Amino acid sequence: VTVYVPRDAAALAVGADAVALAVSAEAARRGLSVRVVRNGSRGLLWLETLVEVATPAGRVAYGPVEADDVPGLFDAGWLAGGAHTLCHGLTEEIPYLKRQERLTFARVGIVDPRSAQDYEAHGGLAGLRRAVSMEPAHIVEEVLQSGLRGRGGAAFPTGIKWKTVAAATAAQKYIVCNADEGDSGTYADRLLMEGDPFLLLEGMAIAGLAVGATFGYLYVRSEYPQSIEALNAAIATAREAGWLGDDVCGSGRRFDLEVRVGAGAYICGEETSLLESLEGKRGVVRAKPPLPAIAGLFGKPTVVNNAISLASVPIILARGAQYYRDYGVGRSTGTLPFQLAGNLRQGGLVEKAFGLTLRELLYDFGGGSASGRPLRAVQVGGPLGAYLPESQWDIPLDYEAYAAVSAMIGHGGLVAFDDSVDMLRMARYAMEFCAVESCGKCTPCRIGSTRGMETLDRIAAGGADHGKQVVLLRDLCDTMLGGSLCALGGMAPYPVLSALNHFPQDFGLDKTAPE
Ligand code: NAI
Ligand code: SF4
Repeated sequence: VTVYVPRDAAALAVGADAVALAVSAEAARRGLSVRVVRNGSRGLLWLETLVEVATPAGRVAYGPVEADDVPGLFDAGWLAGGAHTLCHGLTEEIPYLKRQERLTFARVGIVDPRSAQDYEAHGGLAGLRRAVSMEPAHIVEEVLQSGLRGRGGAAFPTGIKWKTVAAATAAQKYIVCNADEGDSGTYADRLLMEGDPFLLLEGMAIAGLAVGATFGYLYVRSEYPQSIEALNAAIATAREAGWLGDDVCGSGRRFDLEVRVGAGAYICGEETSLLESLEGKRGVVRAKPPLPAIAGLFGKPTVVNNAISLASVPIILARGAQYYRDYGVGRSTGTLPFQLAGNLRQGGLVEKAFGLTLRELLYDFGGGSASGRPLRAVQVGGPLGAYLPESQWDIPLDYEAYAAVSAMIGHGGLVAFDDSVDMLRMARYAMEFCAVESCGKCTPCRIGSTRGMETLDRIAAGGADHGKQVVLLRDLCDTMLGGSLCALGGMAPYPVLSALNHFPQDFGLDKTAPE
């Protein structure tokens, strides 16, 4: 009997290693033959450690399992899918999973992330195999037609970026995967790297073939040691299997890559800062132009894509652009892995086509607040994303619809807060975050963020010049929005202004205060 125990960091954090050991030890004690496979996480994080038992009817889920529960699970006959208070029935039938549309995460939690055979047996490599038989321009066209847009947050069309790099002439070009996932409430890159690392390598190899790049770098944050280990193991296996290296899938074309580890600065997730860091320098933002697509790593034309953008490419090549385009709404085509975090009963990863609403994510998937109190505000898109009040929870999750209300979907992370949240404190936190993480290159961000904290402290103190301080805060936000070189200083005002506009009472203002 095969038993799956995740090796994902989220599962390890709640004792998955001890569970895996307990399963093997208990099986040995009872003289039962059990094979433990360490898979990725299914993304149902409130059920971790989620252990699955392979039965003839399908995999049966048990969770959250702790090492102490293991003897009782054997007593209950779990190897045959036996009933137990921790049993959730067939994994695929759990509504949270069943209602999803998993394209990018189709294999995560299902396969053994260390096995190239398992990867191929579940449809892996079909995209790269097709790509090696295509003209590079045709690969770019397929990605362009799919409508795929940058999943790091900026939503720039991936196909256009690739076209720019493909058109540049240079002796060397690079593919850089941005896996410096630093936004609060986001973990999709990590879940993917730990649960299906081969997919990311396949996406990068396809990008290399498309634009004529022979080498790639995966820039991964140091806080993700399990991801780094998973990627390095996958790279070694893929080289041995002959789909990375001097002769990609027998095509005679070269593509290889290596992992580089970041040192823990949020700003190194900004593409030019990341390139500086890759070159061995301090992570300071570069002015654009030139775009990295023209002069990127070591001055060479470089594709810098987020991990999820690259991981979305294999299915586009395998199934065709139209298949991918058929998901989503308007110009937001395909699916996005939304990441539910904060005060929710059921935090986890939900991959769905664009167009669903925050309310569906919060209640149908998230199950409402964990505290039992009413939800009040949701920050979407990381620490630089706006706070959305309940009146905005029915807006379809679509890049344009969000931009229209000065919000952003970003990398798809959302953090929910109940009615005990103090929105002035959250606004101050945004300014403090910006002050701590600023690279220091430009004044509105470097100095403005500190002045912003001080102004918010004065607003909180509620002195005689309270109204004047609010005007000052808005003025400062205007300067940061318009005068910052990159998104850190340029977007820190989003959480501040959304908190002020939607929750004025927390700032000691009348509900009807003019914006
Ligand atoms: P941007 O809009 O300046 O650029 C988007 C991408 O398109 C870049 O890679 C840029 O080089 C490329 N590009 C633009 N015009 C091009 C052209 N004509 N040809 C080829 N490539 C072109 O946005 P930026 O500054 O890269 O990212 C800002 C976004 O990052 C924010 O909107 C935010 O959502 C997101 N973000 C994500 C975080 C995360 O942890 N994933 C953290 C913080 C912000
Ligand atoms: Fe650096 Fe902030 Fe300016 Fe960005 S906005 S370049 S992080 S100082």
